[in-house]
Amino acid sequence: MLGRIVASGCFLFCLAVAAQKPVAKAAPVVRHAWDDATLSPDERAGLVLAEMTLDEKLAMIHGMKPEDAPGVKFDPSGSVEGVGFLPGVARLGVPSINMTDSAVGVRQPEDESRYTTLLPSSFALAASWDPDAAMRYGQVVGRELHELGLNMSIGGGVNLMREPRGGRTFEYAGEDPLLAGTLVGTLEAGVHSEHVMNDIKHFALNDQESGRRQVNVVLGERAMRESDLLAFEIALEIAKPSAVMCSYNLLNTDYACENSYLLKTVLRDEFHFQGFVVSDWSATHSTVKAAMAGLDVEMSGGKFLGKPFAEAMKSGEISPEQLDSMVRRVLRSLFASGAVDDPPVREIIDPFRGREIAQKIAEESMVLLRNEGATLPLSQGVHRVAVIGGHADVGVLSGGGSAQVAAPGGNAVLKDGKPAAGPTFFPSSPLREIQSHAAGASVTFDDGMSLSAATKAAKDAEVAIVFVTQPMREARDAATLSLPDKQDELVEAVASANPHTIVVIESGGPVTMPWKNKVATIVEAWYPGIGGAQALGDLLFGTVNFSAKLPGTFPASEAQLPHPVIAGSDMVPQPKGQPAVIFNANYSAEGARAGYKWFQSEKKEPLFPFGFGMSYTTFAYSDLTVNAEKLAVSFTVKNTGSREGTDIAELYVALPVAVGESFRRLAGWQRVDLKPGEAKLVTIAVDKRMVSIFDTATHSWQMPSGAFEWSAGGNSENLPLHVSMVK
Ligand code: BGC
Repeated sequence: MLGRIVASGCFLFCLAVAAQKPVAKAAPVVRHAWDDATLSPDERAGLVLAEMTLDEKLAMIHGMKPEDAPGVKFDPSGSVEGVGFLPGVARLGVPSINMTDSAVGVRQPEDESRYTTLLPSSFALAASWDPDAAMRYGQVVGRELHELGLNMSIGGGVNLMREPRGGRTFEYAGEDPLLAGTLVGTLEAGVHSEHVMNDIKHFALNDQESGRRQVNVVLGERAMRESDLLAFEIALEIAKPSAVMCSYNLLNTDYACENSYLLKTVLRDEFHFQGFVVSDWSATHSTVKAAMAGLDVEMSGGKFLGKPFAEAMKSGEISPEQLDSMVRRVLRSLFASGAVDDPPVREIIDPFRGREIAQKIAEESMVLLRNEGATLPLSQGVHRVAVIGGHADVGVLSGGGSAQVAAPGGNAVLKDGKPAAGPTFFPSSPLREIQSHAAGASVTFDDGMSLSAATKAAKDAEVAIVFVTQPMREARDAATLSLPDKQDELVEAVASANPHTIVVIESGGPVTMPWKNKVATIVEAWYPGIGGAQALGDLLFGTVNFSAKLPGTFPASEAQLPHPVIAGSDMVPQPKGQPAVIFNANYSAEGARAGYKWFQSEKKEPLFPFGFGMSYTTFAYSDLTVNAEKLAVSFTVKNTGSREGTDIAELYVALPVAVGESFRRLAGWQRVDLKPGEAKLVTIAVDKRMVSIFDTATHSWQMPSGAFEWSAGGNSENLPLHVSMVK
């Protein structure tokens, strides 16, 4: 080091700089006892709390805009206009909390988030089955929040896909608790690694958007612990989140944000969650009941935990200790996240760094669902390609609602020369990428609005690539799983004109495909983010191999679902001023059998099963062995094709017959990179909960005795290896 400094001719200056930095880091100026970073977050929180006034504490348990709180002694200059703000205490060096939505990238007003990265949707990330990708995803979100001066992320949706028409499916991570919990937990650990407070939401059973503020979910304890709550449990263990957001819905007759079973029994007593519970926006319904049930912070205002809380304290209904415990949890999270020791400093975001990561994740997340006659990969020598529909000339689709990231330059789809209203397309043009891969070809674009024009374009080409889109957004479920706007007819028309039809789907989750057997190739690209077209181009032309697999079952029709009609989808809004009518979504019949577990036990054949996805190469599986003592399962995966590829090798377990489950549970997986002919031994350490049932009498996981059937292979319905283990 010294040698290099001398050689560069800046000896004295550089030495001084080199000497300064470590000193500054090792010994920050200690103004308060809690500045001492060697103390635990709990100790530091306790020290601050002892110095806070009642008003300062009361201001910390509900959101506010600085202008909402004249006379309150906090530092309003701390607000950088995220979607939520909790005032800090400037005199004690406690920073304000500035939070914003960041499910699939940082959401800020357009002038702020012009350079933030739109990542592939969370559902797409889940299709990678790759915790490393989830970590990188979370780091992009955390870093960009930090660079925008924000210190808290509100993302981390881990609700299970019980309802594939769900408007927020794209913000969640599929239908399996182990897969969803692992990926969302790791993503949020990535956010945390950037010293940004993180959260997990929407707790819990907020699995549909229809009537989301008035739906009462009915489900038994064992079923929820083995499904939705297990996803939360796993995510919480990995992410150690600063906050958990309670949801809009009711669960077994209590609103989630005042549900003491959820917030106390499960979250605090059994999951040992140490952060704070924050309500979804206007999801708080009471003061005393909510606080006593375990709600710590009301967002986005103080309708219940503002003035009414102070009054309840005066009347003795709420004790000072109760307030202290709520504030302590907020303070603890501030210290535990690193947000106090490494406060955000506004910087310019590097859009290219984020984009490169987004593209890599997109490459790992697009699923090859069908490829007859090896239509893909396309040859670079292809002569005539017709690209049709889906605004593929200008961009790729993104999901709407609070997860919506602003597109650079506004919607890439224009109307009258201006960014169009409606679903937002990001400027990542599939047409341009296809053109650049097939440099010598004639590549045409037809917008797909006229069936006859699209048919003609397809007829004139060697290959037709038709893009179809399913826009989805928060607060609205899709009425059906069918593609909207007669796009099924478009695909049928193109397929009848060209035998080499490739369909690229940009959807939030599953869609139906009445034309499945009439087209050569199907690629599910999801909402692929700002590097989506580049990733797609590389996959279509085989520069990169497909590796992703479905994180959720694609049903053949709505009739196969536990609820062919979504509960509450026929509700008409109450006249203004009338209370909303509560209705039930009764999930008791399917219980823990979300997704593939329902399809297996009801013997329904889906369009594409959970865990399915193809590659340009092929894989074979052998030698399944189980170490019952260690709960470790091994098998060999071999690349039997002629191309390098990555397999997601999947392991499932069926519990002893006496348990009464007629499905296999995902027990683990591994992504394996293999050269042609190469074989690798995969060993999966199985979490005991995957082979246990939740015993509601003892509130604990119990492994039943009997014969466990282990199966391994390439997807939930194609498992060539089986072995029995008696316990
Ligand atoms: C959503 C939350 C979001 C919040 C703030 C709510 O409508 O359900 O997920 O974090 O708005 O934008």
